[in-house]
Amino acid sequence: MLLKLLAVGDVVGEGGQDILSRRLHGLREDTKAHFVVVNGENASGVGITPAQARRMLEAGADVITLGNHTWNRIQIGDYLDKEPRILRPANYAGRVPGRGMGVYTCQGTRIAVLNLMGRLELNSNLDSPFKSADWLLNRGSYDLAVVDFHAEATSEKGAMAWYLDGRAAAVWGTHTHVPTADGQILPKGTGFITDLGMTGPRRSVLGIKPEHSINLFLGGLPRRYEEAEGNCKLNACLFTIDTETKKCVSVCRADIEE
Ligand SMILES: [Fe+2]
Ligand SMILES: [Fe+2]
Repeated sequence: MLLKLLAVGDVVGEGGQDILSRRLHGLREDTKAHFVVVNGENASGVGITPAQARRMLEAGADVITLGNHTWNRIQIGDYLDKEPRILRPANYAGRVPGRGMGVYTCQGTRIAVLNLMGRLELNSNLDSPFKSADWLLNRGSYDLAVVDFHAEATSEKGAMAWYLDGRAAAVWGTHTHVPTADGQILPKGTGFITDLGMTGPRRSVLGIKPEHSINLFLGGLPRRYEEAEGNCKLNACLFTIDTETKKCVSVCRADIEE
């Protein structure tokens, strides 16, 4: 069968959660998506609380992935241990709560979802995401694997996708909050896009008030970032995967603008 997987970019703040709650069920129907993975690392601006995670699951996420802001709301720690539908990057080097891979059954197919984080320009303290991917993909029972690679550098994301070509059915990037137009299928069947973009305020710098970002670049005192106001967008990408061959057959953007 053809399995449709919808991947949703970083949900930013109250605005991002609001558009997700209002529009994700409809987008699921419109795209006929069977399975939905949402990156939730910015639900609190930075980090996510258990209440915000529950709200995203109610909005229609089957799995929530995270990133470099995983520990900004430290109360998520216990929840990561208890709730199997939320993942944090697998390659944290330390002894931290939660898990970076989960296997979920959808339409009779066991889908392994991996959350990995890049090191270039992001966190050099991590274990290698490439070796972590090898280790995770070689264990556990699943039919096909998909990867949220949370990374800054387009080069690291591209290298990961090509490294996993033929082993993962889909690899998508998160973190930059800027959607890319390079959706493609690699030679051995991995569907790939460099970045999904974000789900949050349109008139913003990556979701936050432009003046706060400008202040930082002008050398002003660091201050707490505030979420921008106004209409939001929902950035997402739809991967269609043949469950027999385990290859991706199409990658297309599925964005909503309000
Ligand atoms: Fe991030
Ligand atoms: Fe983010």
